[in-house]
Amino acid sequence: MSKKISLTRYLVEQQRLDGHIPPELRLLLEVVARACKSISRAVNKGALGDVMGTAGSENVQGEIQKKLDIIANEVLIEANEWGGHLAAMASEEMDSIYVVPNRYPQGEYLLMFDPLDGSSNIDVNVSIGTIFSVLKKSEGEAGVSESDFLQAGSQQVAAGYCVYGPQTTLVLTVGDGVAMFTLDHEQGSFVLTEENVKIPEDTQEFAINMSNMRHWDTPVKRYIDECLQGKEGPRGKDFNMRWVASMVADVHRILTRGGVFLYPWDKREPEKAGKLRLMYEANPMSWLIEQAGGASTNGKQRILDIEPTKLHERVSVVLGSKNEVERVTAYHSGL
Ligand code: AHG
Ligand code: MN
Ligand code: MN
Repeated sequence: MSKKISLTRYLVEQQRLDGHIPPELRLLLEVVARACKSISRAVNKGALGDVMGTAGSENVQGEIQKKLDIIANEVLIEANEWGGHLAAMASEEMDSIYVVPNRYPQGEYLLMFDPLDGSSNIDVNVSIGTIFSVLKKSEGEAGVSESDFLQAGSQQVAAGYCVYGPQTTLVLTVGDGVAMFTLDHEQGSFVLTEENVKIPEDTQEFAINMSNMRHWDTPVKRYIDECLQGKEGPRGKDFNMRWVASMVADVHRILTRGGVFLYPWDKREPEKAGKLRLMYEANPMSWLIEQAGGASTNGKQRILDIEPTKLHERVSVVLGSKNEVERVTAYHSGL
Protein backbone atom coordinates (compact mmCIF):
# COMPACT_ATOMS: atom_id res chain seq x y z
CA MET A 1 0.00 0.00 0.00
CA SER A 2 1.28 3.44 -0.88
CA LYS A 3 2.25 5.78 1.95
CA LYS A 4 1.34 8.78 -0.14
CA ILE A 5 -0.64 11.35 1.80
CA SER A 6 -3.23 13.14 -0.28
CA LEU A 7 -4.38 16.69 0.42
CA THR A 8 -7.74 15.26 1.53
CA ARG A 9 -6.10 12.97 4.07
CA TYR A 10 -3.78 15.75 5.28
CA LEU A 11 -6.75 18.03 5.90
CA VAL A 12 -8.83 15.32 7.58
CA GLU A 13 -5.89 14.54 9.89
CA GLN A 14 -5.35 18.22 10.66
CA GLN A 15 -9.02 18.50 11.52
CA ARG A 16 -8.84 15.45 13.81
CA LEU A 17 -5.52 16.15 15.47
CA ASP A 18 -5.71 19.81 16.26
CA GLY A 19 -9.36 20.52 15.66
CA HIS A 20 -8.33 23.87 14.25
CA ILE A 21 -9.71 23.17 10.81
CA PRO A 22 -13.48 23.12 11.13
CA PRO A 23 -15.23 20.92 8.53
CA GLU A 24 -16.41 23.97 6.53
CA LEU A 25 -12.84 25.24 6.20
CA ARG A 26 -11.68 21.80 5.14
CA LEU A 27 -14.35 21.74 2.46
CA LEU A 28 -13.37 25.23 1.34
CA LEU A 29 -9.70 24.25 0.94
CA GLU A 30 -10.59 21.11 -0.96
CA VAL A 31 -12.79 23.11 -3.29
CA VAL A 32 -10.06 25.70 -3.89
CA ALA A 33 -7.62 22.86 -4.63
CA ARG A 34 -10.09 21.35 -7.09
CA ALA A 35 -10.47 24.71 -8.82
CA CYS A 36 -6.68 24.98 -9.05
CA LYS A 37 -6.56 21.56 -10.74
CA SER A 38 -9.03 22.81 -13.28
CA ILE A 39 -7.03 26.02 -13.86
CA SER A 40 -3.88 23.92 -14.18
CA ARG A 41 -5.53 21.94 -16.98
CA ALA A 42 -6.52 25.12 -18.80
CA VAL A 43 -2.97 26.48 -18.41
CA ASN A 44 -1.49 23.23 -19.77
CA LYS A 45 -3.66 23.34 -22.87
CA GLY A 46 -2.05 26.62 -23.91
CA ALA A 47 -2.43 27.33 -27.61
CA LEU A 48 -4.46 24.11 -28.05
CA GLY A 49 -7.28 25.60 -25.96
CA ASP A 50 -8.88 28.99 -26.30
CA VAL A 51 -6.90 30.35 -23.36
CA MET A 52 -4.08 32.52 -24.73
CA GLY A 53 -3.99 36.25 -25.34
CA THR A 54 -5.97 39.19 -24.05
CA ALA A 55 -9.67 39.28 -23.32
CA GLY A 56 -10.08 42.83 -24.59
CA SER A 57 -11.18 44.18 -21.20
CA GLU A 58 -9.61 45.95 -18.19
CA ASN A 59 -9.95 45.18 -14.50
CA VAL A 60 -10.77 47.74 -11.80
CA GLN A 61 -7.05 48.51 -11.48
CA GLY A 62 -6.75 49.51 -15.13
CA GLU A 63 -4.81 46.39 -16.11
CA ILE A 64 -5.58 44.63 -19.38
CA GLN A 65 -7.18 41.27 -18.63
CA LYS A 66 -5.89 38.11 -20.23
CA LYS A 67 -8.32 35.34 -21.19
CA LEU A 68 -6.84 33.15 -18.48
CA ASP A 69 -7.36 35.86 -15.81
CA ILE A 70 -11.07 35.66 -16.55
CA ILE A 71 -11.23 31.88 -16.96
CA ALA A 72 -9.44 31.33 -13.63
CA ASN A 73 -11.71 33.84 -11.90
CA GLU A 74 -14.83 32.06 -13.20
CA VAL A 75 -13.50 28.63 -12.26
CA LEU A 76 -12.89 29.76 -8.66
CA ILE A 77 -16.32 31.36 -8.34
CA GLU A 78 -18.23 28.45 -9.85
CA ALA A 79 -16.37 25.94 -7.70
CA ASN A 80 -16.94 27.86 -4.47
CA GLU A 81 -20.35 29.49 -4.62
CA TRP A 82 -22.62 26.49 -3.99
CA GLY A 83 -20.91 24.60 -1.13
CA GLY A 84 -22.43 26.57 1.75
CA HIS A 85 -19.04 27.37 3.29
CA LEU A 86 -18.71 30.94 2.02
CA ALA A 87 -20.43 34.26 2.61
CA ALA A 88 -18.63 36.09 -0.20
CA MET A 89 -15.58 36.22 -2.43
CA ALA A 90 -13.31 39.01 -3.66
CA SER A 91 -10.83 38.93 -6.49
CA GLU A 92 -8.26 41.02 -8.32
CA GLU A 93 -10.47 40.65 -11.39
CA MET A 94 -13.74 41.91 -9.84
CA ASP A 95 -14.50 45.53 -8.94
CA SER A 96 -16.44 44.63 -5.81
CA ILE A 97 -17.21 41.62 -3.66
CA TYR A 98 -19.19 38.65 -5.00
CA VAL A 99 -21.85 37.70 -2.48
CA VAL A 100 -22.94 34.05 -2.55
CA PRO A 101 -26.30 34.05 -4.43
CA ASN A 102 -29.49 33.57 -2.39
CA ARG A 103 -30.19 30.19 -3.96
CA TYR A 104 -27.27 28.73 -2.03
CA PRO A 105 -26.74 28.54 1.74
CA GLN A 106 -24.37 31.17 3.16
CA GLY A 107 -21.40 30.20 5.28
CA GLU A 108 -19.13 32.29 7.47
CA TYR A 109 -15.92 32.32 5.45
CA LEU A 110 -14.63 34.99 3.07
CA LEU A 111 -12.39 33.94 0.20
CA MET A 112 -10.06 36.30 -1.64
CA PHE A 113 -7.94 35.45 -4.62
CA ASP A 114 -5.60 36.55 -7.33
CA PRO A 115 -6.96 34.00 -9.81
CA LEU A 116 -4.00 34.20 -12.14
CA ASP A 117 -0.78 35.70 -10.86
CA GLY A 118 1.96 36.56 -13.32
CA SER A 119 -0.36 37.23 -16.27
CA SER A 120 2.47 38.65 -18.38
CA ASN A 121 4.03 35.16 -18.36
CA ILE A 122 1.01 33.24 -19.72
CA ASP A 123 1.79 33.64 -23.39
CA VAL A 124 5.52 32.97 -22.96
CA ASN A 125 5.07 29.65 -21.10
CA VAL A 126 6.69 30.74 -17.84
CA SER A 127 5.38 29.77 -14.37
CA ILE A 128 2.17 31.45 -13.20
CA GLY A 129 -0.16 30.73 -10.29
CA THR A 130 -3.24 31.33 -8.17
CA ILE A 131 -3.01 33.01 -4.74
CA PHE A 132 -5.74 32.76 -2.09
CA SER A 133 -6.52 34.03 1.38
CA VAL A 134 -9.34 33.01 3.74
CA LEU A 135 -10.89 35.16 6.46
CA LYS A 136 -13.84 34.61 8.77
CA LYS A 137 -16.76 37.00 8.79
CA SER A 138 -17.23 38.59 12.19
CA GLU A 139 -20.07 36.97 14.08
CA GLY A 140 -23.47 38.42 14.77
CA GLU A 141 -24.35 40.62 11.85
CA ALA A 142 -26.54 39.31 9.09
CA GLY A 143 -25.50 39.86 5.46
CA VAL A 144 -22.06 40.62 4.17
CA SER A 145 -20.36 43.74 2.83
CA GLU A 146 -16.93 44.91 1.73
CA SER A 147 -16.16 46.08 5.27
CA ASP A 148 -16.25 42.43 6.45
CA PHE A 149 -13.17 41.83 4.27
CA LEU A 150 -11.19 44.73 5.72
CA GLN A 151 -9.28 42.70 8.29
CA ALA A 152 -5.54 42.65 8.92
CA GLY A 153 -3.60 39.72 7.42
CA SER A 154 -2.98 38.39 10.93
CA GLN A 155 -6.67 37.40 10.97
CA GLN A 156 -6.32 34.97 8.06
CA VAL A 157 -7.44 31.41 8.85
CA ALA A 158 -5.88 29.85 5.76
CA ALA A 159 -3.68 31.06 2.92
CA GLY A 160 -1.86 29.56 0.02
CA TYR A 161 -1.05 29.48 -3.63
CA CYS A 162 -0.85 27.03 -6.48
CA VAL A 163 2.04 27.41 -8.91
CA TYR A 164 1.59 26.16 -12.49
CA GLY A 165 5.15 25.47 -13.52
CA PRO A 166 7.11 22.37 -14.54
CA GLN A 167 5.08 20.85 -11.70
CA THR A 168 1.74 22.03 -10.32
CA THR A 169 2.32 22.60 -6.62
CA LEU A 170 -0.17 23.72 -3.98
CA VAL A 171 1.34 25.43 -0.95
CA LEU A 172 -0.80 25.89 2.12
CA THR A 173 -0.86 27.19 5.68
CA VAL A 174 -3.65 27.01 8.24
CA GLY A 175 -1.39 28.56 10.87
CA ASP A 176 0.49 25.38 11.69
CA GLY A 177 3.52 25.63 9.38
CA VAL A 178 3.68 25.36 5.62
CA ALA A 179 2.96 22.21 3.60
CA MET A 180 3.50 21.60 -0.12
CA PHE A 181 1.46 19.25 -2.31
CA THR A 182 2.44 18.21 -5.81
CA LEU A 183 -0.30 17.40 -8.32
CA ASP A 184 -0.13 13.77 -9.41
CA HIS A 185 -1.59 14.12 -12.90
CA GLU A 186 -2.22 10.38 -13.25
CA GLN A 187 -4.18 10.11 -10.00
CA GLY A 188 -5.65 13.58 -10.29
CA SER A 189 -4.84 14.39 -6.68
CA PHE A 190 -2.47 16.60 -4.73
CA VAL A 191 0.10 14.59 -2.76
CA LEU A 192 2.02 15.88 0.25
CA THR A 193 5.64 16.33 -0.81
CA GLU A 194 7.04 18.72 1.81
CA GLU A 195 6.00 19.47 5.35
CA ASN A 196 7.18 22.01 7.87
CA VAL A 197 8.90 24.13 5.20
CA LYS A 198 11.62 26.41 6.62
CA ILE A 199 13.38 29.33 4.92
CA PRO A 200 17.07 29.82 5.75
CA GLU A 201 17.60 33.05 7.73
CA ASP A 202 20.45 34.16 5.48
CA THR A 203 20.61 34.27 1.73
CA GLN A 204 22.73 35.41 -1.19
CA GLU A 205 19.86 35.78 -3.64
CA PHE A 206 17.57 38.74 -4.20
CA ALA A 207 14.58 39.31 -6.48
CA ILE A 208 13.59 42.75 -7.70
CA ASN A 209 12.69 44.36 -11.01
CA MET A 210 15.99 46.19 -11.62
CA SER A 211 14.56 48.25 -14.46
CA ASN A 212 12.82 50.39 -11.84
CA MET A 213 16.08 51.23 -10.04
CA ARG A 214 16.07 54.91 -10.93
CA HIS A 215 12.65 55.30 -9.30
CA TRP A 216 13.47 53.60 -5.97
CA ASP A 217 13.70 55.27 -2.61
CA THR A 218 17.07 55.62 -0.81
CA PRO A 219 16.84 52.58 1.57
CA VAL A 220 16.03 50.17 -1.29
CA LYS A 221 18.75 51.70 -3.50
CA ARG A 222 21.25 51.32 -0.70
CA TYR A 223 20.30 47.69 0.00
CA ILE A 224 20.52 46.57 -3.64
CA ASP A 225 23.63 48.63 -4.28
CA GLU A 226 25.41 46.88 -1.40
CA CYS A 227 24.31 43.47 -2.75
CA LEU A 228 25.66 44.39 -6.19
CA GLN A 229 29.06 45.36 -4.75
CA GLY A 230 29.45 41.69 -3.79
CA LYS A 231 32.62 40.42 -2.08
CA GLU A 232 34.36 43.78 -2.45
CA GLY A 233 31.51 45.72 -0.84
CA PRO A 234 30.21 46.12 2.74
CA ARG A 235 28.37 42.75 2.62
CA GLY A 236 31.60 40.86 1.88
CA LYS A 237 29.82 38.25 -0.29
CA ASP A 238 28.50 37.92 -3.81
CA PHE A 239 24.77 37.94 -4.50
CA ASN A 240 22.76 36.27 -7.24
CA MET A 241 19.63 37.80 -8.79
CA ARG A 242 16.36 36.25 -9.99
CA TRP A 243 13.13 37.89 -11.19
CA VAL A 244 10.41 35.70 -12.67
CA ALA A 245 7.76 38.48 -12.69
CA SER A 246 5.27 36.02 -11.21
CA MET A 247 5.13 36.57 -7.47
CA VAL A 248 4.04 32.94 -6.96
CA ALA A 249 7.16 31.64 -8.67
CA ASP A 250 9.48 34.05 -6.85
CA VAL A 251 7.90 33.20 -3.47
CA HIS A 252 8.01 29.49 -4.27
CA ARG A 253 11.75 29.74 -4.92
CA ILE A 254 12.21 31.58 -1.61
CA LEU A 255 10.21 28.95 0.31
CA THR A 256 12.34 26.29 -1.35
CA ARG A 257 15.86 27.70 -0.98
CA GLY A 258 15.65 31.13 0.66
CA GLY A 259 16.07 34.59 -0.79
CA VAL A 260 14.54 38.02 -0.53
CA PHE A 261 11.79 39.49 -2.75
CA LEU A 262 11.16 43.21 -3.10
CA TYR A 263 8.44 45.09 -4.91
CA PRO A 264 8.90 48.45 -3.19
CA TRP A 265 7.04 51.71 -3.44
CA ASP A 266 8.69 53.87 -6.09
CA LYS A 267 8.52 57.37 -7.55
CA ARG A 268 6.80 56.44 -10.81
CA GLU A 269 3.36 56.89 -9.26
CA PRO A 270 4.13 58.24 -5.80
CA GLU A 271 0.47 58.21 -4.69
CA LYS A 272 0.41 54.41 -5.07
CA ALA A 273 1.69 52.55 -2.01
CA GLY A 274 3.18 49.88 -4.28
CA LYS A 275 2.24 47.63 -7.18
CA LEU A 276 1.16 44.49 -5.37
CA ARG A 277 -2.22 44.13 -3.69
CA LEU A 278 -2.40 43.77 0.07
CA MET A 279 -5.43 41.53 0.52
CA TYR A 280 -4.91 38.79 -2.06
CA GLU A 281 -1.19 38.96 -2.87
CA ALA A 282 0.86 40.39 0.01
CA ASN A 283 -1.17 39.04 2.97
CA PRO A 284 -1.35 35.36 1.98
CA MET A 285 2.29 35.34 0.84
CA SER A 286 3.42 37.13 4.01
CA TRP A 287 1.68 34.60 6.23
CA LEU A 288 3.23 31.67 4.35
CA ILE A 289 6.66 33.29 4.61
CA GLU A 290 6.28 33.96 8.34
CA GLN A 291 4.98 30.45 8.94
CA ALA A 292 8.18 29.19 7.29
CA GLY A 293 10.35 31.31 9.60
CA GLY A 294 10.85 34.26 7.25
CA ALA A 295 9.69 37.87 7.59
CA SER A 296 7.59 40.31 5.60
CA THR A 297 7.34 44.09 5.79
CA ASN A 298 6.38 47.16 3.80
CA GLY A 299 9.69 48.66 5.00
CA LYS A 300 8.17 50.23 8.08
CA GLN A 301 5.53 47.84 9.33
CA ARG A 302 4.87 44.10 9.40
CA ILE A 303 2.53 43.51 6.45
CA LEU A 304 0.23 41.24 8.48
CA ASP A 305 -0.44 44.13 10.91
CA ILE A 306 -1.68 46.57 8.25
CA GLU A 307 -5.37 47.44 8.69
CA PRO A 308 -6.77 47.60 5.16
CA THR A 309 -8.99 50.50 4.16
CA LYS A 310 -10.14 49.15 0.79
CA LEU A 311 -10.39 45.87 -1.08
CA HIS A 312 -7.86 46.58 -3.80
CA GLU A 313 -5.37 48.40 -1.57
CA ARG A 314 -1.76 48.27 -2.72
CA VAL A 315 1.33 47.84 -0.60
CA SER A 316 5.11 47.92 -0.78
CA VAL A 317 6.50 44.41 -0.20
CA VAL A 318 9.81 43.09 1.17
CA LEU A 319 9.70 39.43 2.17
CA GLY A 320 11.84 36.35 2.57
CA SER A 321 14.90 35.30 4.56
CA LYS A 322 14.66 36.92 7.97
CA ASN A 323 18.05 38.58 8.30
CA GLU A 324 17.81 40.26 4.91
CA VAL A 325 14.29 41.55 5.58
CA GLU A 326 15.47 42.90 8.92
CA ARG A 327 18.36 44.66 7.18
CA VAL A 328 16.02 46.34 4.70
CA THR A 329 13.77 47.38 7.61
CA ALA A 330 16.76 48.85 9.45
CA TYR A 331 17.72 50.88 6.36
CA HIS A 332 14.16 52.25 6.25
CA SER A 333 14.46 53.47 9.83
CA GLY A 334 17.70 55.25 8.93
CA LEU A 335 20.06 52.82 10.72
P1 AHG B 1 -0.75 39.95 -11.74
O1 AHG B 1 -0.35 39.16 -12.95
O2 AHG B 1 -1.69 39.19 -10.83
O3 AHG B 1 -1.24 41.34 -12.06
O4 AHG B 1 0.53 40.12 -10.80
C1 AHG B 1 1.77 40.42 -11.36
C2 AHG B 1 2.64 40.94 -10.25
C3 AHG B 1 3.48 39.90 -9.56
O5 AHG B 1 3.14 38.58 -9.80
C4 AHG B 1 4.89 40.16 -10.05
O6 AHG B 1 5.80 39.99 -9.02
C5 AHG B 1 4.86 41.57 -10.53
O7 AHG B 1 3.52 41.88 -10.82
C6 AHG B 1 5.71 41.79 -11.75
O8 AHG B 1 5.70 43.13 -12.05
P2 AHG B 1 6.68 43.79 -13.15
O9 AHG B 1 6.13 43.38 -14.47
O10 AHG B 1 6.53 45.26 -12.87
O11 AHG B 1 8.07 43.28 -12.89
MN1 MN C 1 -0.70 38.93 -8.98
MN1 MN D 1 -3.60 38.31 -11.30
